[in-house]
Amino acid sequence: MKHLLLLLLMCTALPSFADDVAAGRSKADVACSLCHGHNGMASLPNAPNLAGQQSIYVSEQLRNYRSGKRQNEVMNMIAKQLTDSEIAQLAAWFSAVKVTVEAP
Ligand code: HEC
Repeated sequence: MKHLLLLLLMCTALPSFADDVAAGRSKADVACSLCHGHNGMASLPNAPNLAGQQSIYVSEQLRNYRSGKRQNEVMNMIAKQLTDSEIAQLAAWFSAVKVTVEAP
């Protein structure tokens, strides 16, 4: 019983996926929306849409930009400012945006 209570306490203390999404959303509004647009629909013609992108893909690209494995002047600079948890939050946010696809 004691252990169960401890486990419950630990779970409530850990940030949930919903917390990550909310934190990622505010971070993206400030740091990414200029180019990747509101809700991740790109506002610059040469910036990719991030809305609905797989979180594993977003976080991998951000880590690659941060390490320099993927080269892009702008994104290298931006990713260098991001911590691991910010990357996880941003990836959670963009992957949580629901996208509808309609073929022409
Ligand atoms: C000044 C404009 C600008 C800002 C601000 C910006 N980006 Fe980008 N981002 C770009 C461009 C341009 C590319 C395409 C780079 C390339 O060719 O590799 C890109 C690429 C990416 C990619 C790779 C997408 C893919 O399809 O491979 C991710 C992920 C990304 N950005 C995330 C972010 C996040 C998260 C933020 C905010 C923390 C951000 N970007 C802020 C311009 C920007």
